[in-house]
Amino acid sequence: MSVLVLGGAGYIGSHMVKRLVQNNQDVVVVDSLVTGHRQAVDPKATFYQVDIRDKDALREVFQKENIEQVVHFAAFSIVPESVANPLKYFDNNTSGMITLLEVMKEFDVKQIVFSSTAATYGNPVHIPIKETDPQQPINPYGESKLMMEKIMDWADQADGIKWVALRYFNVAGAIEDGSIGEDHNPETHLVPIILQAANGQRDHIEMFGDDYNTPDGFNVRDYVHVIDLADAHILALKYLAEGNDSNQFNLGSATGFSVKEMVEAARKATGVDIKAQVGPRRPGDPDILVANSDKARDVLGWKPNYDNVEDIIKTAWNWTESHPNGYNDK
Ligand code: UFG
Repeated sequence: MSVLVLGGAGYIGSHMVKRLVQNNQDVVVVDSLVTGHRQAVDPKATFYQVDIRDKDALREVFQKENIEQVVHFAAFSIVPESVANPLKYFDNNTSGMITLLEVMKEFDVKQIVFSSTAATYGNPVHIPIKETDPQQPINPYGESKLMMEKIMDWADQADGIKWVALRYFNVAGAIEDGSIGEDHNPETHLVPIILQAANGQRDHIEMFGDDYNTPDGFNVRDYVHVIDLADAHILALKYLAEGNDSNQFNLGSATGFSVKEMVEAARKATGVDIKAQVGPRRPGDPDILVANSDKARDVLGWKPNYDNVEDIIKTAWNWTESHPNGYNDK
């Protein structure tokens, strides 16, 4: 029996595939390669280049493979892009989820672990955020993912499809051996951009807004290491395999760092005096996102290994230094 990883050629998905393969699990990967990289997929996984919205092609994969559980990473995830182009997000993310659930129902596959997001909470009512807090997204990306959670919930009630939504905070870092890492084109995420500035690939990092309602005025995020995140998915698959009910978990570190503090941590981690400038706010950014992840620790038994942003940045730096042009460096 196999685990199907949708979006397994992406940044987080490829780390998940690697962890599953290391656990001797049979893995099938489906990825459109629109944002993913074929080289990122572990060679032990069976790969299909398929778009999640292509129902016939998806059906073929379920027909050929013996799929028992699904992990769904195949969504667009760039907050500012979603503000500029919301329909792209509702099409690929929300509508893609409907196609996937239809095919799962057809083939009687009843367990799914889903990449949800802190962006479903919008501007939080208190910090740290709990799973039971109101979900009021302030950008189309967060809205598309909240809709996906709700669709799964109704599919569970009607068809018994059990789901776990893992609401990620800000994912960063790379596997320690530097073999895979983060490579987006264009890059929009804070840590790789800071490291491109450290590496001389850009002159400086622009810090978006210094007038947020936070102690130093820069907005605050909760950074979690990509391998810790992948391991939470493995625990969620086990949780579903044991017959537990659908559930949602925050995945973060419970510690917030401002953009300015992240630049400072990166200066220490790399030893480079990275240049930073203050620029205007970016649309769609909440002031603070910090997780309460007690539920994942208590219910799933999740124990993140990285509790220090400098260590997280060091693993990303290892990847950036060895692959300055991402997967184009092979
Ligand atoms: N930032 C800068 N300069 C940059 C890039 C980012 O100041 O050049 C700031 C952003 O304004 C934000 C922080 O750095 O405050 C983090 O930005 P990212 O783009 O790295 O990440 P986001 O917080 O926008 O979003 C990420 C994921 C989402 C997820 C969210 C949840 O991309 O999918 O974290 O916290 F929903």
